[in-house]
Amino acid sequence: MPNIALFPGDGVGPEVVAEGVKVLEATGSRFGIEFAFETLAIGGDALDRYSAPLRRDDIRAAGRADAALLGAVGGPKWDDVDSALRPERGLLQLRKALGLFANLRPVSVLPALAESSPLRPEIVAGVDLLVVRELTGGIYFGKPSRRWTSGRGRAAVDTLRYREDEIERVVRLAFELARGRRGKLASVDKSNVLQSSRLWREVADEVKADFPDVELEHVLVDAMAMHLIKSPSRFDVIVTENMFGDILTDEASVLPGSIGLLPSASLSAKPGAGTGTRYGLYEPIHGSAPDIAGTGRANPAGTILSAAMLLRWSLGLIEAAEAIERCVADAIAAGVRTPDMAEPGSPVDSTAEFGADVARRVAAA
Ligand SMILES: NC(=O)c1ccc[n+]([C@@H]2O[C@H](COP(=O)([O-])OP(=O)(O)OC[C@H]3O[C@@H](n4cnc5c(N)ncnc54)[C@H](O)[C@@H]3O)[C@@H](O)[C@H]2O)c1
Repeated sequence: MPNIALFPGDGVGPEVVAEGVKVLEATGSRFGIEFAFETLAIGGDALDRYSAPLRRDDIRAAGRADAALLGAVGGPKWDDVDSALRPERGLLQLRKALGLFANLRPVSVLPALAESSPLRPEIVAGVDLLVVRELTGGIYFGKPSRRWTSGRGRAAVDTLRYREDEIERVVRLAFELARGRRGKLASVDKSNVLQSSRLWREVADEVKADFPDVELEHVLVDAMAMHLIKSPSRFDVIVTENMFGDILTDEASVLPGSIGLLPSASLSAKPGAGTGTRYGLYEPIHGSAPDIAGTGRANPAGTILSAAMLLRWSLGLIEAAEAIERCVADAIAAGVRTPDMAEPGSPVDSTAEFGADVARRVAAA
């Protein structure tokens, strides 16, 4: 029986996670799998209940499960708390404690929603890319990171440091993922300026020797920022370091037209429950959306698609994952839409109605 840890979190988090669970249960009935769920606390929710954004017991419980599904953390209620206690701190702690070194963000544009993209439909037609971002190294973690004041005024330093093993494991994962898709990998760096990027490029070329069937191209990060807007459909898998990935994934997230649609997976080196799988934390890419929390207007598709990624990457249940993905696309094509996906003035469905529709489709798949 697969065990799934649930971190509903804050704002719309509990609302979208409830729909993820609804669809997982329907998938379980359809495919004869019984899931066991354990609900844990993170973010402002944990802070209110336990005075900490993440408890050690909950980290342990998440690590014992086969995978974890998270909603979102944060909100104005906790904006003024001490920085060590901020809700977002809980998420960073969880990623670090579980060794989640690779963040996967698939971005595709559903034909039914091509008109909702800020880019012209002919530019986003056929977009189907997967960005793999290194998540536990680079400038967000490098030391020294500090500021000081001297006779010449204020100064600050951050450090972009990578070891070859940190680069190798994420680049290798990206090659493996590209092998299972269209066989194309773009490695993004700034090797014309940065030493760390020159090492990144060298290691990527070395790993390439093990993947003769995958085409590797190196792209400078500034050029990639342009390509993602001008010709996003030319890419398959993109791999990059932590900060470049942070920026490029946000840029890529606007292509499908609503932030509520996009799932993500953060994978560790620990094996998952299914053959050839890894332990992972799965979450929609959006935040806690405090402006619409409690109104039934949140789009749960990103969470439902995160649940599909969980089945694929941690449990190895490919058929079940594909059924969910197909049913989300079918529901949207049939006109089931939360407000963020709907044309102004057209009828809308609530968060729960969207989830129930997808669940019904999966049960009948
Ligand atoms: N991983 C996370 O948990 C995460 C990520 C980003 C932001 N945050 C936190 O969330 C809070 C709000 O941040 P923000 O407003 O910058 O980003 P946000 O993603 O919460 O919201 C940005 C906009 O997108 C809309 N939106 C977001 N999710 C949606 C959904 N599922 N359906 C429909 N519309 C949706 C919101 O209504 C809002 O207008 C902050 O406290 C921030 O720190 C958390």
